[in-house]
Amino acid sequence: VVAAEDFDWEALTAAAAEASRHAYAPYSHFAVGAAATADDGRVLTGCNVENAAYGVGLCAECGLVSQLHLTGGGKLTHFVCVNGEGEVIMPCGRCRQLLHENGGPGLLLLTVSGVKRMDEVLPDAFGPDDLD
Ligand code: THU
Repeated sequence: VVAAEDFDWEALTAAAAEASRHAYAPYSHFAVGAAATADDGRVLTGCNVENAAYGVGLCAECGLVSQLHLTGGGKLTHFVCVNGEGEVIMPCGRCRQLLHENGGPGLLLLTVSGVKRMDEVLPDAFGPDDLD
C-alpha cells in the first residue's frame, strides 16, 4: 500500500474523469465518474447510469463496486469521484455506505475539502462488524 503522501491522486482523478465521459445521464444531465484503487493496485472505475424510472438510476459507485468484485475482489484503498467537468464531488450518502462496506473505515477519499478517511465522511457507520 502506497503512503498517503505518495499517492497519485491526479492520475486517479483523470481515470474518474475518463469514466464520466461514459455516463448515461439523459435525465439529470449530471455525468459522474468514479475511480478507486484496490489493495493489489488494480484501478476500478464506474459511471452513473440513469433510467426512465428515475429511482432506478445507478450511481457511478455502483458500477465501480461491481467491477471490484468482478475483477478479483479485495478492498478499496483510495477513491475519488468527479462531475462532467472533472471537478471533485462528494459521494452521495448511499454510496458512502457502499464504499464503507468495500473499503472499510480507513479508505482514503479525495474530497472537496482534501483527503479524508472513510470514517470522517461516514462517522460511526453501520457496517459488517455490526452483524457479527
Ligand atoms: N450520482 C452518482 O453517480 N454518484 C454520486 O455519488 C452522486 C450522484 C449521480 C446519480 C444521478 O445520475 C446524478 O448523479 C444526479 O444525481
